[in-house]
Amino acid sequence: MSVLLAYATHSGATRTLAEAMAAALEEEGREVVLADVADDPDPAQHEAVIAGSAVRGESVEKSFARWTRHHGEALAARPLAVFTCSGSAADPAKQGRQRAMDRFLEWTPLRPVATANLPGWVLMDRIPATERALLRAMGTPTGDFRDLAAAGRWARGALPTATL
Ligand SMILES: Cc1cc2nc3c(=O)[nH]c(=O)nc-3n(C[C@H](O)[C@H](O)[C@H](O)COP(=O)(O)O)c2cc1C
Repeated sequence: MSVLLAYATHSGATRTLAEAMAAALEEEGREVVLADVADDPDPAQHEAVIAGSAVRGESVEKSFARWTRHHGEALAARPLAVFTCSGSAADPAKQGRQRAMDRFLEWTPLRPVATANLPGWVLMDRIPATERALLRAMGTPTGDFRDLAAAGRWARGALPTATL
């Protein structure tokens, strides 16, 4: 059976991480279905799930939170790995911690078999002017911090091999 790779994105970086993960799993001969949570993919159709969300305002995307709540029963019944994609994950001082992931794990009853906080990008030309002003005011570093190879490696190790 297949692995569902579901993502919630605002400016596109989380989708590119999910695509890199899908490619890495497919290279190993896995069947992968890649889907935006906006299209409400059904986890019950898959053996295992990797789900990822962009981070904004120290939270996962609302669409991601809604989707995990809506499919809570199916997600709890199969191996689930969760990742975030953020600007601050590129900051070595954070040591891999991400407030949005911590908050998500506090309120969700789901118990992922693996979690990762992966760096995305902060590209001013991809976000609305109002948000640009906010990020500038916060002094957020801009750039493309993604490591697609690392994302693929994490996906390969994230789910128990017996489920793949
Ligand atoms: C309005 C806004 C708020 C953000 N807030 C945070 C934040 O609280 N923490 C963080 O680490 N990154 C933050 N970021 C950076 C995003 O997490 C980063 O751009 C990430 O790549 C977004 O993923 P996406 O391109 O899939 O939407 C923010 C970005 C925007 C545009």
